[in-house]
Amino acid sequence: MMKACVVYDSFFGNTAKMAEIIGANLIERYEVQIISVNQLKPVVLKDLQLLVVGSPTRGFEPTKPIKNVLQNIQAVDFPHLQIVCFDTRMDIKKINNKILNFFVKFRGYALDSMEKIVKHNGFSIIHPGMGFFVDESEGPLGEGEEKKAGQWAHKIMRIAIKVK
Ligand SMILES: Cc1cc2nc3c(=O)[nH]c(=O)nc-3n(C[C@H](O)[C@H](O)[C@H](O)COP(=O)(O)O)c2cc1C
Repeated sequence: MMKACVVYDSFFGNTAKMAEIIGANLIERYEVQIISVNQLKPVVLKDLQLLVVGSPTRGFEPTKPIKNVLQNIQAVDFPHLQIVCFDTRMDIKKINNKILNFFVKFRGYALDSMEKIVKHNGFSIIHPGMGFFVDESEGPLGEGEEKKAGQWAHKIMRIAIKVK
């Protein structure tokens, strides 16, 4: 059976929850491991076909541990690996703060940096990443975001398997 791993970082549990939902859906097609970034060991990446990486957006960026993990995975070392990213973030449309809107326009979200690193390391983005909204910094997740995560996981599966 193909192997997938969902690696996440999380301060308040929202990104962890998304990782769990995504992992639970991937089980249909993959042997799945869901791992907090602090517990990730290199051996997990061996023989892995799909790596899903999730980070909270903190200061327009992914967390440092997530960035470190992504920076250390080169396509030349993992020719059969596909990487897909997601983040959690605030909905700036709901906050509607002019200064924040300005910064987000230039700095973006964790997902932007994550996909940039992945591409830089030689991977092609087989499936566009996803941002999931939290209502407040600590959560809860926005309405409908859990369902969105399940649907997103199914789309990843369809595309990942086609590309193989
Ligand atoms: C210090 C700090 C910085 C943050 N910066 C951003 C940001 O730049 N953009 C954004 O959309 N959300 C930002 N947030 C909200 C986080 O994205 C939110 O706390 C996170 O998605 C929750 O996920 P977690 O429960 O997995 O930690 C920030 C929150 C904190 C506490």
